[in-house]
Amino acid sequence: MPKVFVTRRIPEPGLAILRRAAEVKVWEEELPPPRDVLLKEVEDCDALVPLLTDRVDDELLDRAPHLKVVANYAVGYDNIDVPACTARGVLVTNTPGVLTETTADLAFALILAAGRRLVEADKFLRAGRWQTWGPTLLLGQDVYGATLGLVGLGRIGAAVARRARGFNMQVIYHSRHRQEALEKELGAAYASFDELLHRSDFISIHVPLTAATRHLFNADAFARMKPTAVLVNTARGPIVDEAALYAALKTGRIAAAGLDVMDPEPPRRDNPLLTLDNVILLPHIGSASVATRTRMATMAAENAAAALRGELPPNLVNREVWDRRRA
Ligand code: DGY
Repeated sequence: MPKVFVTRRIPEPGLAILRRAAEVKVWEEELPPPRDVLLKEVEDCDALVPLLTDRVDDELLDRAPHLKVVANYAVGYDNIDVPACTARGVLVTNTPGVLTETTADLAFALILAAGRRLVEADKFLRAGRWQTWGPTLLLGQDVYGATLGLVGLGRIGAAVARRARGFNMQVIYHSRHRQEALEKELGAAYASFDELLHRSDFISIHVPLTAATRHLFNADAFARMKPTAVLVNTARGPIVDEAALYAALKTGRIAAAGLDVMDPEPPRRDNPLLTLDNVILLPHIGSASVATRTRMATMAAENAAAALRGELPPNLVNREVWDRRRA
């Protein structure tokens, strides 16, 4: 029987699929396996099901001579050195599609909550500070009719654009490639990054973390945004330069932010963003609904099981490994 190591307890339906295909070992702790444990565990495993907290790199691959597949329990795979896996003939898979709507719901929740200062208002009331209805009490930014700038128009960005239509928002987007068919369907207009920064009332980030997107939102970007603008990030923390974001929020350079992702995760206790009222901070829960996390588990498991059976995994990231094997 092949061996699989799963780096955390994923929902049972996924584990059931894996058990039919392999001998399964699950890291049962709440925190990720320490690096030395992970390196030991992969020594005899044929498949690895990691989370985005587990780094799969040359060091790990060197220790895993039997590894055939890395089936990430996430759509993003910046935790995996894909070229290193490809060079060794190791298949890499992810879980695209299933978490699109759940993550778009959360992005939209952050747009509303940060724009209308919901978390701050809740804290204000609980602290016993609410004395009377006030004409200028906790004023925020209108979402209805505002301009939404989407950075990235992939599955999740497009799903946010569909929600925005219900709020009569003007949707503009920036991405590496123009998507003219989607533009028509969504009523979205293409903008340069600079134009998007200048025009948007709300900006929501939906690009993967790459060398080109790391710190895309830096002091220079914040300087070009409206002072009333709200930034939402449900993609990856390092796309935003947190020191620059702190300065922009603290000085009123922009109005507010909603972050579901940070750099690093979890944030250090002395991260100054924790001291600000005009930022909502969530512990990376974009895909955290029961149904979605269960579906992610079955997808990751089906990917791993297919690879172990010698079949094409449904969500293969590095197709060239498969093509090379078939050649
Ligand atoms: C992903 O899948 O990449 C999310 O960040 C976690 O679900």
